[in-house]
Amino acid sequence: MKYKLKVIIGSTRPGRKGPLVARWFLDIVKQFHDFEVEVLDLKEINLPFLDEAEHPRLQNYANEHTKKWSKVISDADAFVVVTPEYNFGYPATLKNAFDYLYAEWQEKPMAFVSYGGVSAGTRAVQALKLPVTTLGMMPLPQAVNIPFFTQFINNDGVFEGNESLEKSAKLMLKKLISWAEALKGMRDKPLSEKL
Ligand SMILES: Cc1cc2nc3c(=O)[nH]c(=O)nc-3n(C[C@H](O)[C@H](O)[C@H](O)COP(=O)(O)O)c2cc1C
Repeated sequence: MKYKLKVIIGSTRPGRKGPLVARWFLDIVKQFHDFEVEVLDLKEINLPFLDEAEHPRLQNYANEHTKKWSKVISDADAFVVVTPEYNFGYPATLKNAFDYLYAEWQEKPMAFVSYGGVSAGTRAVQALKLPVTTLGMMPLPQAVNIPFFTQFINNDGVFEGNESLEKSAKLMLKKLISWAEALKGMRDKPLSEKL
């Protein structure tokens, strides 16, 4: 069984380093045959600030960009967010992307690859858990947190993680497979059958 994994790149500013970190992580994901991967780069997706009149719970979307985003997120079985830390929090682009939808996120696991200075982006990850759980997702405690991340970017501008980062990525992905399987089972069973 292949799970549809969406890897979301959260930073969008010119000169961002997020895609370098994501590229390294995606090479590790490739070693796992349980995933069918799609990269969702929020810079390319380019969602405007939330511009829907109705609450996303109603799924009464007016805009094409929302309908497209809804389709992509509905299709997912699991997520990995690649996030920097901005001012001890996460980028506003991520919150905006979350707020567009509701049901599409529910009962799906989300794992994190974070990078930063001394904090390794961990404050951003902790802050992310509030909207993530509110939207019914399961945030994984296993994560890849990269401290002083520029030390891993070589002279060619390629991010090269060390062995311990690779180990943490593999453990996180193994756990993500378990959660993807468990929560798929949960989504496939209508609530009425469970009660
Ligand atoms: C607005 C802003 C705020 C930042 N705040 C933090 C922070 O709180 N903690 C941290 O470790 N790094 C912080 N940094 C440094 C980032 O770790 C670094 O710039 C990184 O490259 C940001 O990710 P990006 O290149 O993908 O945008 C900040 C950077 C910016 C642009």
